[in-house]
Amino acid sequence: MQITVVSGSHRKKSQSRKISDVIRCRLAENQSVTKSEVIDLSVIELPLWEEAIWENDPAWIARLSSVSKVLEESDGFVIVSPEWHGMVPSALKNFFLMWGEGQLAHKPALIVSISSSNGGSYPVAELRMSSYKNNRICYIPEHLIIRNVGSIFNMDSQENDAETQHRLTERMLYCIQLLICYAEGFKRIRQNKATDISTFKFGM
Ligand SMILES: Cc1cc2nc3c(=O)[nH]c(=O)nc-3n(C[C@H](O)[C@H](O)[C@H](O)COP(=O)(O)O)c2cc1C
Repeated sequence: MQITVVSGSHRKKSQSRKISDVIRCRLAENQSVTKSEVIDLSVIELPLWEEAIWENDPAWIARLSSVSKVLEESDGFVIVSPEWHGMVPSALKNFFLMWGEGQLAHKPALIVSISSSNGGSYPVAELRMSSYKNNRICYIPEHLIIRNVGSIFNMDSQENDAETQHRLTERMLYCIQLLICYAEGFKRIRQNKATDISTFKFGM
């Protein structure tokens, strides 16, 4: 099974990337996961969506094809989003605009939101409300909110609050196991022709 982590911050050296790497390591330790990688939006630097994407513009095909392949091959996703001004970063919303051809469709996803303080709820609400309609990604009911992110999951353990890190590690492992469980089940769901998105290309 292949699970892909999307690091939704377009800030270089972001906390989202830090947490994405931790999650990827945890995924790699799981026997059910044969492949996992991080798509870091600060690295792929997609320009804002343009009409040319719908016109098979060669520049856009070149830009999107390698990411598209990873997404198509994936059985599930972890979407890591920081809270910026009570929102999901624009690069992450832009990312969701690119994948309407079934690359994410009927595949489970775990939302992980990040805050340097006590935030983190708004990205969960926003993603659940408005990021799935056309791409048909399926968020699982469980999600993870990582608050005070600067004080946990750092390479230097001296910088970490040990109790919080232990508690959130347990919760993270629980969420990952649940995601894998859904990903197994969703493979069967995708075999059913009812999941074909060509009849109604756009959600209501
Ligand atoms: C533009 C901007 C806006 C932010 N707004 C919020 C916010 O509304 N709520 C919050 O809890 N943290 C906010 N923060 C702090 C972020 O939670 C913190 O910087 C976090 O590390 C950002 O994640 P990133 O490093 O993955 O970009 C904001 C940070 C930035 C850069």
